[in-house]
Amino acid sequence: MTPKTRILLGVTGGIAAYKSPDLVRRLIERGAEVQVVMTAAAKRFVSPMSFQAVSGRPTRSDLWDSTAESAMGHIELARWAQLVLIAPASADFIARLAGGRADDLLSTLCVATEASIVLAPAMNRIMWANKATQANVELLISRGVRILGPAAGNQACGEVGAGRMWEPVKLAESLLEPPANAGLLAGLNILITAGPTRERLDPVRYLTNRSSGKMGFAVAAAAREAGAHVTIVTGPVQLPTPAGITRINVESARDMYAAVHRHVAEADVFIAAAAVADFQPVTIAKQKIKKQGVSVNIELEPAPDIVRSVAEMAKRPFVVGFAAETDDVENNARSKLKRKKLDMIAANQVGDGIAFDCDDNALTVLWPGGKTDVARGPKIDVARELIAIIAKRLPPPGGPRRGARKRRTAVADSRNRLRSRRARR
Ligand code: C5P
Repeated sequence: MTPKTRILLGVTGGIAAYKSPDLVRRLIERGAEVQVVMTAAAKRFVSPMSFQAVSGRPTRSDLWDSTAESAMGHIELARWAQLVLIAPASADFIARLAGGRADDLLSTLCVATEASIVLAPAMNRIMWANKATQANVELLISRGVRILGPAAGNQACGEVGAGRMWEPVKLAESLLEPPANAGLLAGLNILITAGPTRERLDPVRYLTNRSSGKMGFAVAAAAREAGAHVTIVTGPVQLPTPAGITRINVESARDMYAAVHRHVAEADVFIAAAAVADFQPVTIAKQKIKKQGVSVNIELEPAPDIVRSVAEMAKRPFVVGFAAETDDVENNARSKLKRKKLDMIAANQVGDGIAFDCDDNALTVLWPGGKTDVARGPKIDVARELIAIIAKRLPPPGGPRRGARKRRTAVADSRNRLRSRRARR
């Protein structure tokens, strides 16, 4: 029998704590042993007895409880945990964790443990967007803390926005089930471009576009889950780097071109998800262009076409482009596939609340002689499906790939797992 994963579930003070007893059940269903530790504020929302009933263990909350401490002291408890999950993680607890505080049982355990820490934030959308909260989250990510969520939607406070705790099933799956894509790209090097580029006009102005980089970053995270070594070359975006990924920040199309060509020789797959500028100013003014009450002509020239330049290399990786189209998506994308000599293109219709600067996407994926649709969903789910499609179409290196059959089965299994997970939500 496989040993159970020992999870220390920290519950902090927020209305989403009412979902945490269900989370305990979902974790136990998936083979975990769960010890609940509550903060004082959490006890105002849910009773410790509820957790005791579902976890089968006395709920802990007091650093100074001599009876509990003599049964298992806080240092022993910190050692016992193989994973610390804080769900819900309130803005206050996130701040205390970032500050390294140890002034109650849960914060002390977080400082005293060597186990990985995972947070499932839940709070009002404005509290989540608050600069201090975001800075604390960034700091914790840079220290290796994993953040799951929050999701967007209706909030208990009556507002709508990002701040809802992930549903218990989704949290339990993310922690205890292998990613559906696990192993599909094992050991391959994947180079990805993401985000917009900025083309400078003068020292204070630039041309850019509305790309948020979310799709490219989701593809990077999905490729990493699939076992690839991932490098992402990104234009200016406000996104944290997914765990385990090498990030190269660039600004202009020229910079992106240079960074891509520095790394492309090692790549097995190149995925161009960036919204690269089509035009760049012929010259960048040294001084701010003055407003003189008359129109200004700025001469633009084509920016380097990065994906085409990679596709034209004599020894090249498998090349996947993206196409954001406003009309006649499939025909336009197919002609782009041919014109740029790509192996595959992922096309989406821009508008209708999807694609640019938003959290959902839907794709039509085309390759010479074939196509498949990926239904609308959160970008990470769409990215996982795209990775499964790419894995299936990768050519065998220098002849039939060893283990190709095994990989085809893994791809089919993975798509079925992805579909059933999406259906369950
Ligand atoms: O030509 P269009 O911009 O529609 O092509 C989109 C695809 O080409 C995307 O994969 C994008 O990342 C890539 N591209 C590029 N360099 C450019 C323009 C687009 O790599 N200068």
